[in-house]
Amino acid sequence: MINKNLTTNFKILLEADLTEEEKSLINKAKKASEKAYAPYSSFQVGAAVLLDNGEIITGNNQENAAYPSGLCAERIAVFYANAQYPDVSVKMLAIAAQNGGKWLEKPVSPCGSCRQVLLETERRFDTDIQVLLYGEKEILKIESIKDLLPFAFYLDK
Ligand code: THU
Repeated sequence: MINKNLTTNFKILLEADLTEEEKSLINKAKKASEKAYAPYSSFQVGAAVLLDNGEIITGNNQENAAYPSGLCAERIAVFYANAQYPDVSVKMLAIAAQNGGKWLEKPVSPCGSCRQVLLETERRFDTDIQVLLYGEKEILKIESIKDLLPFAFYLDK
């Protein structure tokens, strides 16, 4: 038997460490969370996607009485970005969430299904997607979706 280890890299940032571009993307994610449709969970998530052409696309979670029919903020933003700009890579994604109207102190991290979709977007354009996870007390920065989803499933083209 061989034991192996995988390491994941991430940075913990304070507001003061952020570039203007990062700050602005986080603010857009926060703003998008305000328009979420989350009557069942009261957990409002906003996502903002910066594309390589400078466009910023935002999304938020959309819930449904048939719970699994709803969709997360991240997939709404990324699918919409890919639908509008099928030839443009995604550079950065910011995520912010509030629970019952209060910003989370520690950031939320995308769910497994969103990671799978984000990883495919990264592979599709062969460009790493940087991720900013906003929390009031802590902001995390991850340089690639590969750090969020080791052992990912993909089909070789
Ligand atoms: N949700 C997101 O939109 N993104 C995440 O990263 C985690 C969870 C949504 C799904 C659901 O509407 C609500 O948050 C509670 O799970």
